[in-house]
Amino acid sequence: MKNVPILAGVAGWPVTYSLSPVIHSTWAHRANINGYYIPIAIEPTEDDFRAVIAGLRKVGFAGINVTKPHKENALRIADDASGTAKSAGAANMLTFREDHIYADNSDVVGFANAVKDHTDQPGDHGVILGAGGAARGVILALKELGIQKITITNRTREKAEALAAEFGLAVVDWDKRSEVLDGADLLVNTTSLGMTGQPPLEIDLSPLKSKSVIADIVYSPLETPLLRAAKNHHTIDGLAMLMHQAVPGFEQWFRGNAKVDEDLKNILLKEI
Ligand code: ATR
Repeated sequence: MKNVPILAGVAGWPVTYSLSPVIHSTWAHRANINGYYIPIAIEPTEDDFRAVIAGLRKVGFAGINVTKPHKENALRIADDASGTAKSAGAANMLTFREDHIYADNSDVVGFANAVKDHTDQPGDHGVILGAGGAARGVILALKELGIQKITITNRTREKAEALAAEFGLAVVDWDKRSEVLDGADLLVNTTSLGMTGQPPLEIDLSPLKSKSVIADIVYSPLETPLLRAAKNHHTIDGLAMLMHQAVPGFEQWFRGNAKVDEDLKNILLKEI
């Protein structure tokens, strides 16, 4: 049976533009691993998700990454989950073990490692823009990085307040998003503002210290209006997180070495 290829993939709706197959194929090719990683389109209901997952298990998939809109479904249908996935309230990885499905969340370590690539000392104060699903993962990552004070701001203040109560954060009004940058060490955009087809994120970066780091989890376009305005600061783009979040899945399912480097980034840049 040694020629049976390893199967994995990414499930979402839509998944047509996912870069994950390129990332995993590149690593599989580098490590000479016999495996396939494919996009799997699953319509947005939990029933559809459950049905397709059952089929994937039956045909022998090792596991899958999960993206929008199924990250909460993934956690719900799993038999067991990591503490990170439970705290995030979402899973972007499902591993199919013999008798159960295990959910994990590598978005958290993905963002933390993207920051670590830039600095060993991310500072004491992080500011997060947005309070959706992506913000939850970033909050956990900032905590893992040892950032003491986290301030959150969101257009809909109640959503920021709910996360603040859950995770012990400070909240400021969306209208005060520039003022709160005074003294911040790390600014992270988790909103969809700046994404292709969305309005740009409007924010005055002048209160930031010159050594502060600015991160955007949006990767289409790679240079968002925020990152373009941040030319005088260290910046982290959305591809950094995307590449790092893929590492745990590749290591678990394909059992090979997954390295995030400039070569991989250049391959992805050709696909954007
Ligand atoms: P994700 O899972 O990627 O975080 P989401 O849960 O839909 O996606 O969250 C999108 C985030 O972008 C939210 O914080 C949203 O703000 P609201 O909670 O007020 O909806 C933010 N967002 C989207 N469009 C926005 C806009 N035009 N102005 C300000 N914030 C916006």
